Amino acid sequence: MAISIVVTGAAGMLGTALMDLVPDSMSATGVDLPDGDLSLLDGAREALESPRDVARGRELVERPAPEVVIHCAGYTDVEGCTREPARAHQHNAIATANVAQICREVGARLLYISTDYVFDGTKGAAYTEEDDPHPLNAYGESKLAGERAVQQLLDNYLVIRTQWLYGPGGRNFVDTILTKARHGEELRVVADEFGSPTYTRDLAAALWKLAVADVQGIVHVTNSGYCSWAQLARAAVEMAGLSDASITEISGEDWPTATRRAQFAVLDNRRWQQLGFTPLRPWQEAVAEYVSQNFLQTR
Ligand SMILES: NC(=O)c1ccc[n+]([C@@H]2O[C@H](COP(=O)([O-])OP(=O)(O)OC[C@H]3O[C@@H](n4cnc5c(N)ncnc54)[C@H](OP(=O)(O)O)[C@@H]3O)[C@@H](O)[C@H]2O)c1
Repeated sequence: MAISIVVTGAAGMLGTALMDLVPDSMSATGVDLPDGDLSLLDGAREALESPRDVARGRELVERPAPEVVIHCAGYTDVEGCTREPARAHQHNAIATANVAQICREVGARLLYISTDYVFDGTKGAAYTEEDDPHPLNAYGESKLAGERAVQQLLDNYLVIRTQWLYGPGGRNFVDTILTKARHGEELRVVADEFGSPTYTRDLAAALWKLAVADVQGIVHVTNSGYCSWAQLARAAVEMAGLSDASITEISGEDWPTATRRAQFAVLDNRRWQQLGFTPLRPWQEAVAEYVSQNFLQTR
């Protein structure tokens, strides 16, 4: 019998990659808004226990309770979270607590997707799973509150922290840069904030492994290596054949925002490797594949 999995946030950027890469040994149902608002306990119950099929928009009949839930849904607009911290808490912390509660009731394993935003970036080195979180903004606080809810309610869980996602089916930095470069717009890009750009399809493949691995706790998973936003922008425009694009490097302090951000919140993937998994490929390789498959064809 295929393992029964529910993916929340299935219509989002990471959820899209997960649903695209479901292994043969698993049966995955994707759920997303407007069905089952996870920030309401009843909504979470409806979404996880009797999910509608996102693709076909109908109730799934005789569907077994999920054995694993991969919880990708969330309020992911970082600036929006700063403006609306209560909404951030509702859709990231409360919704995650609701999902964890249902997993507890039905005995499901939970994979919760969290973020480098739980760290303040002052360590001066890559963060391990043992480092103490200290978020700088409402998004990070709400995601950390989600982590704590999962840890309190469940034994069989995994918190996967990742960073700087890009991929088909969602708003992301690489798309924004390439769209502006294509239109000849000047690009002002932050050069003193660093992270590991991570391709949703590479992360999705890792998540499918972790869904059935005998691993609990926290694990950091990103593509290998790191760069600044400006270095990522330069790499993307070169790979897209737009090397003439004008990129002006600025400091994060000069970026007009009310959101405090970490300067260096790179995630150490050591535990992922200690668990016996191969490091995800270097970020440059993954960006090159994304650009060639999703951008060059649509130019
Ligand atoms: N993007 C990144 O760079 C990044 C980095 C690290 C970690 N993460 C985490 O990875 C996960 C996936 O990120 P993503 O970029 O794929 O996000 P995304 O594209 O914004 O997708 C999230 C999905 O969740 C849905 N959602 C929001 N609130 C909900 C609720 N109360 N009930 C049900 N569904 C709800 C959204 O619906 P609407 O669109 O209708 O609101 C959206 O379809 C998130 O948990 C995020 O915090 C993201």
